[in-house]
Amino acid sequence: MKSTLILISFLTLVCGTPHPRDLLTHERRDGAPDGYTHKGPAPADHTLNLRLALTHTDIGGLQDALYDTSTPGSANYGHHLSKDDVAKYVAPTPESTAAVTSWLSEHGLSATALSPAGDWIGIETTVAQANSLFDADFSKFVHTSGQETVRTLSYSIPASLKSHLDLVHPTVTFPAIELANVPLASIPLSLSARIELSSDTAPSSCNNYITPTCLQQLYGIPSTPAAQDGNQLYVTGLIEQYANRADLGSFLTRFRPDMSPNTTFAFQSLDGGKDLQNISQAGLEADLDIQYTIGVATGVPVTFLSVGNNSQDNTGGMLDLANNLLSQQTVPQVLTTSYGLNEDTISMALAQKLCNAYAQLGARGTSVLFSSGDGGVAGSQPQKCKRFVPTFPATCPFVTAVGGTKLVSPTEVASNLSAGGFSNYFGTPSYQVAAKKVYLGKLGKSLKGRYNASGRGYPDVSAIAEAVQVVSEGVEGPVRGTSCSSPIFASIISLLNDGLLAANKSSLGFLNPLLYSQAGVATLTDITSGNNPGCGTKGFSAVAGWDPVTGLGSPIYSKMAAALGL
Ligand SMILES: *[C@@H]1O[C@H](CO)[C@@H](O)[C@H](O)[C@H]1NC(C)=O
Ligand SMILES: *[C@@H]1O[C@H](CO)[C@@H](O)[C@H](O)[C@H]1NC(C)=O
Ligand SMILES: *[C@@H]1O[C@H](CO)[C@@H](O)[C@H](O)[C@H]1NC(C)=O
Ligand SMILES: *[C@@H]1O[C@H](CO)[C@@H](O)[C@H](O)[C@H]1NC(C)=O
Ligand SMILES: *[C@@H]1O[C@H](CO)[C@@H](O)[C@H](O)[C@H]1NC(C)=O
Ligand SMILES: *[C@@H]1O[C@H](CO)[C@@H](O)[C@H](O)[C@H]1NC(C)=O
Repeated sequence: MKSTLILISFLTLVCGTPHPRDLLTHERRDGAPDGYTHKGPAPADHTLNLRLALTHTDIGGLQDALYDTSTPGSANYGHHLSKDDVAKYVAPTPESTAAVTSWLSEHGLSATALSPAGDWIGIETTVAQANSLFDADFSKFVHTSGQETVRTLSYSIPASLKSHLDLVHPTVTFPAIELANVPLASIPLSLSARIELSSDTAPSSCNNYITPTCLQQLYGIPSTPAAQDGNQLYVTGLIEQYANRADLGSFLTRFRPDMSPNTTFAFQSLDGGKDLQNISQAGLEADLDIQYTIGVATGVPVTFLSVGNNSQDNTGGMLDLANNLLSQQTVPQVLTTSYGLNEDTISMALAQKLCNAYAQLGARGTSVLFSSGDGGVAGSQPQKCKRFVPTFPATCPFVTAVGGTKLVSPTEVASNLSAGGFSNYFGTPSYQVAAKKVYLGKLGKSLKGRYNASGRGYPDVSAIAEAVQVVSEGVEGPVRGTSCSSPIFASIISLLNDGLLAANKSSLGFLNPLLYSQAGVATLTDITSGNNPGCGTKGFSAVAGWDPVTGLGSPIYSKMAAALGL
């Protein structure tokens, strides 16, 4: 009864202040995220570069094609799609493009294509015009870090565009707090414990520090150089993180004396991404990611893709990166990204669009790997919480999310920082249904109400995340975080691809259906001890089989190679 009354008065209110024209609210949030304060309206003449996502012609068809080419046993397994094949599914229909562009031109706006298939377009407008066009209230918000940003808490679009326009960004998704120059998925550790790079002997025991040699021993990774030039391993650089070549040289000299110390990475720039090489500007995250790809995937050509801040925010940067790769005729076989954010900081519509971009990369043949985050069940970083906080893009079902372990010789146990849990945005993908059911059966009623049992579980797999020795700004020291795990796992996939390409076979592409298959599970070491505390709980526990701490487990190179016939 009460709710009916509220509903009636709400309707009255809405009818009393009709939307201009025929606008319907499209996305809204109740208030600014924690840490942001409203500082009044944004200046009317402030320039806004808005991205508009047009509805895909057939995203279900693209996802079916992705599974068809990545599920072992399928006749089309390994038959990756071309750029044009993918565009046929994800391009907007001519009706959608016409409807949106004619509406824009009625308002004197012209759009530029932001993606190869035309599903993302960009417009440049002002706060005054955008407020009227989208019935929005673009305002200034200041973050506790001092970062100022312009966002609106809601926006509307014409009813006639509902089936053509998925979303407008940036509107209700705020920049992740981590913009303040802290790697999103890494804890730059024990800087005080850093050792001067002077000793000429590597750490004596893998029990104290993990080096590439330790990983070769632990996972059986070969040190013989890969030889296929066309095999590309891409490393994402965000938030002004620069990979330093001198640090890489020092790292190789110390930890890979069998490699040329001159081995380096190719550099690509996007959105004004820079390649600053003054050693004082070396980024710990970028150094880690480059050192544990070049230093582990011996001989594989590695490219550092530096996304600058012209993209305005990190979600924009991640989107531009995916669309940039999709616009190339040939995509890299592997992409590793050690950045992420809490799923609730990004709107569901935007998360779905980004996830669909990763599905496209997977369909083209790229293995897309993300670190799962460092806050256990509390998300990308430890924080106060009641309900567990999943992380994105790890929760996207079309990426391989890599959680963290640590070595307690001779075995691996879960690292207590390993982010894992269940999505609130994405349902359980078919490849995970059985594994997740077994886990939830074991979990029973414990932690009930803290997590969303219907969501996609993550991570998928795991690798070492603690006491990983890097060289940054010329000094050596250990770091921890799932930022270590994703490049390590990605390097192993790249080495396997080298063997596949040498045998004229397809590269692996989207990994998850293979990893969760019976044959895939047998190539991993199941991690059955440890947990991922957070939100005032002990978090989930690693158990036999898949679990939301370490996924299916850590890699065994020889078994993976054998399973692929190498
Ligand atoms: C590395 O580069 C330096 C300077 O160009 C050169 O002197 C050295 O011989 C190179 N080392 C190897 C192993 O190629
Ligand atoms: C590198 O940066 C430091 C600190 O900003 C500065 O003092 C130094 O001059 C720079 N070195 C070069 C070669 O630009
Ligand atoms: C990008 O970062 C540089 C510093 O690295 C800063 O000077 C510039 O204002 C930033 N631009 C934007 C759009 O945030
Ligand atoms: C995680 O383990 C480390 C020791 O490896 C310990 O110092 C830290 O307090 C633990 N964190 C939590 C949240 O339990
Ligand atoms: C739980 O996850 C599903 C997706 O599987 C989603 O539709 C639902 O809204 C989520 N529930 C909450 C409370 O977030
Ligand atoms: C792969 O194909 C190339 C040319 O198509 C051929 O020269 C080579 O022998 C093949 N390698 C294997 C292992 O089949």
